[in-house]
Amino acid sequence: MRYRPATTMRVSPLERRAIEARSTGEPFRDYSENVPRWPAGALKLPPSSGVELPRSYPPSAGLDLLRARIAESESRRCGLPLGCENVLVTHGALYGIGLVLRAFLSATDTVICQAPVFRAVGEQLASLVSRVEFVSLASRSGRDLSALAGSLQSHNIAAVYLDSPNNPTGDVLSVDQLEGLHSLCNSTGAILIADIVYADFLLTSEPFVHPAVGDANRWNRLFVVNSVSKAYAAPGLRIGWVLSSPSNIQMLASCLERESIAVSRFGQLYAAQLLEHGNEALIATVRRGAEVVAELAAGMPGAELRTADGGTQFLLELADLDAEWLADHLLRSHRLLVATSANCIAGGRPHLRLPLGHPPEDLAAALSTIRRALSDASVFRASPRAQRPLDAERSHG
Ligand SMILES: Cc1ncc(COP(=O)(O)O)c(C=O)c1O
Repeated sequence: MRYRPATTMRVSPLERRAIEARSTGEPFRDYSENVPRWPAGALKLPPSSGVELPRSYPPSAGLDLLRARIAESESRRCGLPLGCENVLVTHGALYGIGLVLRAFLSATDTVICQAPVFRAVGEQLASLVSRVEFVSLASRSGRDLSALAGSLQSHNIAAVYLDSPNNPTGDVLSVDQLEGLHSLCNSTGAILIADIVYADFLLTSEPFVHPAVGDANRWNRLFVVNSVSKAYAAPGLRIGWVLSSPSNIQMLASCLERESIAVSRFGQLYAAQLLEHGNEALIATVRRGAEVVAELAAGMPGAELRTADGGTQFLLELADLDAEWLADHLLRSHRLLVATSANCIAGGRPHLRLPLGHPPEDLAAALSTIRRALSDASVFRASPRAQRPLDAERSHG
């Protein structure tokens, strides 16, 4: 399947709806973000005021204090030794993905991308290379992937992007799938970019399989991206990182220097404290939220709950209702902001996203509002014209 980003640049449907929510000045409840929330009193960090104005640029690869903490924590996760030289600090994981793509890919390349995929990642890929093959890995073994490589032999497969646990499905890749992806990369010379921003949030007893699958030799062609956005509930810090071999990291640091010189010193120091602090309370919040949502979102009219093995959200899949229409209706009639399947591309059924990491009372209130809106919707189902989303109304005058 090929995907081309819109030629006219527009904000995403979620951003468009958030702008509308803020524009009226009327209060609204925000149930759109899948970033978990720290329980009251659980985050015990000193206030950041009183920090001196940073008068010098930090090193382009990042502050060694933060790089060492990242190396230590990621080394525990992958069971392989890592040092500062394996870590590049970036302006969030998404920037890290873009940096690797810009450094290693050219406009004539083909990229294989796990589907479905977070919209911003899919759009970055489609804007940089000539061909993106979206592949659902849930039903694919390593052998299927080699067959895919064969069918794409005339193209330059330059990179494979994977996301485990996946946004939006929460699927966690197995050892076999990861080994299959590595052999695909070996046979084509492609790099593997593994996005693990949800790796701390596992919702079943299945263990997380690290994309390196225990082999340190893989760092030459493997780029693992992560951040504090979800894992430490700090998306506004814009701090993420890329792990790879020392020579790849040096190369990426020179690209980052060219693009933005360095990452904010404030952000890096705060992130170092977060890593030291730990995120057990946040992980527990998401697990508890998963139980609440599984109970309260079951049996909604005209919708089916899809639970997940990992990540910070479940999906409420809609049988015959337009997700954009429902989200507009939730905002306009119930003052509830939600995200939809439009946040992702290349697959998946129309859905509302159900974040898990909010306080239980907020989850209960949001889910009861959604249940009510689905009952309102039964009135509209009889009239498909009434289901036209706002975007369609706008573009068709
Ligand atoms: C799969 C995936 N990767 C990356 C990001 C962005 O992470 P960051 O805030 O660290 O740039 C998101 C945000 O939703 C995501 O879902």
